[in-house]
This record gives sequence, structure tokens and C-alpha cells, in this order.
Amino acid sequence: MCGIVGYIGTQQAAPLLLEGLARLEHRGYDSAGLAVLGSGLRVAKKAGRVRDLGADLPKRFTGKAGIGHTRWATHGPANDVNAHPHVDAKGDVAVVHNGIIDNAATLRQQLTDDGVDLASDTDTEVLAHLVARSTADTLEERVAEALAAIEGTYGIAVLHADFPDRIVVARNGSPLIIGVGDKEMHVASDLGALVRYTTTVAHLDDGEMATLTATGFTTYRQDLTRIAREATEVDVDPSSYDAGEHDSFMRKEMLEQPSAAERVLRGRLDERFGTGHLGGLDMDARETRAIKRVKILGCGSAYYVGQMGASLVEELARIPADAEAASEFRYRNPVIEPDTLYVAVSQSGETIDTLLAVQEIRRKGGRVIGLVNVVGSAIARECDGGIYLHAGPEVAVASTKALTNMFLGFALLALQLGRVRDLSIADGKRLIAGLSRLPEQIQEVLDGEDALADLATDLADAESLFFVGRVRGFPVAREGAQKFKEISYRHAEAYQTSELKHGPLALISPEVPTIAIVPADELTDRNVGALHEIAARGGPLVVVTHADVDLGEVPCRRIDVPRNERELDPILLTIPLQLLAFHAAQVLGHDIDKPRNLAKSVTVE
Ligand code: F6R
Repeated sequence: MCGIVGYIGTQQAAPLLLEGLARLEHRGYDSAGLAVLGSGLRVAKKAGRVRDLGADLPKRFTGKAGIGHTRWATHGPANDVNAHPHVDAKGDVAVVHNGIIDNAATLRQQLTDDGVDLASDTDTEVLAHLVARSTADTLEERVAEALAAIEGTYGIAVLHADFPDRIVVARNGSPLIIGVGDKEMHVASDLGALVRYTTTVAHLDDGEMATLTATGFTTYRQDLTRIAREATEVDVDPSSYDAGEHDSFMRKEMLEQPSAAERVLRGRLDERFGTGHLGGLDMDARETRAIKRVKILGCGSAYYVGQMGASLVEELARIPADAEAASEFRYRNPVIEPDTLYVAVSQSGETIDTLLAVQEIRRKGGRVIGLVNVVGSAIARECDGGIYLHAGPEVAVASTKALTNMFLGFALLALQLGRVRDLSIADGKRLIAGLSRLPEQIQEVLDGEDALADLATDLADAESLFFVGRVRGFPVAREGAQKFKEISYRHAEAYQTSELKHGPLALISPEVPTIAIVPADELTDRNVGALHEIAARGGPLVVVTHADVDLGEVPCRRIDVPRNERELDPILLTIPLQLLAFHAAQVLGHDIDKPRNLAKSVTVE
């Protein structure tokens, strides 16, 4: 959430920073800004997209050191003034910031009482004034002094006209990665902004600061004691951060699902013993057997796929399991049990609510593993072990391929937990065979895109829709509704099919379509009964089902997906819902990768 870039070296900073910001724009896109240090400090910032900022840069906006920011508003509306960088009254200090300063109101009041005119509504601006007011000898000391007054989370980068040879950065809760180039240094909140220039990087940890000069970097704690931090090579293909021939990242990422699924399964299917092989869990059979409960924590789509994961664990391992929104978890003072396995699930590995839940569990002595896509991310590092999802970079705000790989990660985990308990080798092998078939079957669903696009065109007209499912199908419905509302901005509500007649049936009408998840399983007949009830009230129906399900005389449009093992069906039922949401959003002319009000990686509470 919000993107930071910084550069210091031998080239003009502004074009490099603009390019970096364009790559980070999915992290926040309501305004953007740059500061460069040349003959003095110059700032340009603007509400709107990075391209608007680039088109409007003042003439001779030159300097070989600079910082940039793309914003997702927290304090104050998205306008030119509230855009970052923020500067002090004299215009000597420029600061960009991700995160939230919790005591900003108090600090703003103190500054105002001291006669400082605050230009913006933001929390960040106080930092610029605090750095400017410090009289310490070095920029590092001034920044550390300012940070000592601050409560909250931050990733920051600071430029100061009196210290033109350096950028000082600091991290507490919002990621910062330093990139080492040839006589130049970069910094960014996300690897994607760096990989075009360098793949030699160093991650900062919380509570750490760094100074970047054209020739290198030094790292230290906030008390300014030095710490050694080596830069290392990351194995990443820079082109995986490009949309290539696709007109959106979401479409690219949906189409990548078969290959992403193959990657998460590779080397993890033990066909001989019919189990999963997850080295990263770091638990022997005795420890695995001792687990009495599984609790899954994630936010948004990661929470919904966590519900699918909980079903898998209960069905395959017969261990009580549930999923909870990580954003609520720590606020109810949860009881942490020593024989519960906690599982944090996150694409970015940065979602602050999930990270704080992990920290709460660990503080109370619980064991928590991560299902995380971004290698080396905060959640991955905080957990006691885990499963990397290998989905590759996910740029579109709407999560697709990462979500699919989360499901597969849960299936592997459930298999491994099941096979040290009562899941038979025959069932284990049945599921391994099912998992091996999945990438091809996902491709089959994707191949049906044209028909789904037609259907989406009709659904796009509806102001309000229901997504319904039961048991395994309910999280599918929740995820389908999530995708639909997120990018089409239509009201989409998920419900258990069984609950419709307890209230929401009152809303069913010819104007309110229902997308029903009706797999071939033990609940098919009951689900078909509910379809009749919806049809009888004139509700248009789209049914996501299997070819051998007999829907009788129910008037509906059906989407048949390939059958796998029933436990694994939910992911195949989910894929068409991604395509429906995508095409509805496209028909409505929305910016698919950057839906309004949202941003990728929610790093503020
Ligand atoms: C929905 C979506 C969000 C994320 C959620 C968690 O398409 O992308 O709901 O799933 O913000 O993000 P991660 O997985 O990065 O923790």
C-alpha cells in the first residue's frame, strides 16, 4: 500500500523514479510525486496517476538523487497538496512515507503551537518538519531523532538539501529493499521497482535504517549502532513483472494459473506414500500428529481460500479446523493453544493485519506457519516455517493465481496432516492423482473464456447479485462475490444457499441474478431444490456445476467445470468466477488492475 522509490547515482533521477513508480502504481494510485536534489531540492506532486505526473514535470527537474511516491490516501483526501513527498517550511527536507503515524494529531498540534504552518492534512508532513527542526550533526541523527517522536508504522525515505550526497531510509512495519547498482543505489518498497536495474538487493528489517550514497549503503539500528547487512542476488526474471502482450495484469495472471499450479506442486507430491512433501514445515511425524486443531488466518480473498483450506484439513486429516479474518483476530484477545497449528496465508506477505496476528500468536508461544507467495516477505520471515506458493509476481489488485496456489498449498498441507493420521494410502494416492490433473483442468476452464465473457456482459447490467453455495461451495461463493464487487463495483453478496430462505430471499427478483455453486456432491439435490425456490421468485440463475449434474427444469444458464476429486473441486469452481468478474469489469469500462479505492498489499491497519 503506497509505493516508495529512491535513486542516487550518476544518472538523472527523475526518469528512473517515474519508471519505478509506474511499476509500483498497483500499491496506490490516487496521487504521485517526486523530489530531486540538484542545485537545490525540487518537488513535483499531483493527484492522479503516475503518467499525469510525468506529463506535467516542471522543466529542468534535474538532480542525481531523488525519491518518489505513489499514494493510497489514509490522512486527507487525494489531492496535490496531500500527495507525497512532504517538505518542511523552508523546503530543505523531503520525505516519502508508507504506513501510518498513530500520534500524528498530537504532533501536528505541537508543531502548530510552535508556529509551524502545516500545508497538508497528512500524518507524514510532521516528519519533514521534525527532521528540519533537528540540529544534530548528521542527517542520520536528525532522522533518528524525528523517528523517536513517532508512534506507528513506516517505511520512509528522506532527502535533505544540506546533505546532498545521501538518502536516509528507515523501516518499521512497511517494507524497504535496497538495490545495489554500478555506482548507483536504489531503494524501493517492492522488488518489482528494482529488478530492471539490479537484482542485487538487501532487505531492511523493522527498526532498521540505512544510508544510501552513490557508492554504497550502510545499515544501522535506530540508535545508530551499525549492523552488517550483505546484499544478495535474487533469482527473478525481470520480465515476470511485465504484462507482456496482455492488456491487463489480471488477465495475464489468470492465464498463468496452470503453470503457476504446476510450480506449487512440483517436487511436493509423494506418489509412493500418497502424501504431500513439504520440507518447509520443519515438523517430524510425531510433531505433526500432536496437532489437535488448525486455525487459518488471512484477509480478504486469502481469508476465503483459508476457509477452503479449513475444509480440506477437516476432511482429509479429521482435525478440527477453521479460518478467521486476521484483521479481527488479535482484537478479541484470542486464546493461543500449544497444540494448535496456526497458518497465516498471504500473497504479499506484507498484509499488516495478518502480520500482527502472527506476531500475537508467537508472542503467546503459539506455532505459526506461513502460506506465502513473496519470498523473504515480513510474514514469511516471522513464521516458524511454511510453504512458499511459487505463483510468481502478482501485480493486479485482484488476486487470482496466488489464490489458486494457496488452495493447492492447503491441499498439500491437509494431505500431509491426513497421512500421519487416518487418511488411507489409497485416498492419499487418489488425491495426489487429482492434484496432478488440476493444472490441465484449470486450463480447460480458461479455454471456456468466450462463453463466460458473453454471460458476464449480461451480468454487468445488474446492480446487485447473489453468490450462493453450501459447505465446500460457500467459500467459493464468497470469493466469487469478492472478485465481482472488487473490480465491477456491483453489489455482490455471498450467502449460504441454505440460509436464503431465512431472510435474503426477500431480495430475489428479476433484477437480481444469483450465481449458484452446485457441484456434484452429497448436497446436489438440496442445492437444486434451492434453485427452484429462486427461479419461482423470478430470480435469473447462473449455475456453476458439473456436466453430470441434472438441474431438471430449472431455468438457468449453466457453466460446467471439469470434475476432479470432490475435496479438490472448489478451485475449479472458482476459476470461472474470476473470468465473470473480469469480463463484467471490462464491459463496464473499469480499470481492471487498479480498482477504485483499493491497492495491492494492505500495509496499514
Ligand atoms: C482480493 C484481494 C485481497 C487480498 C487481501 C490479502 O482479490 O486481493 O482481498 O486477498 O488484501 O492480501 P494478501 O494475500 O497479500 O495478504
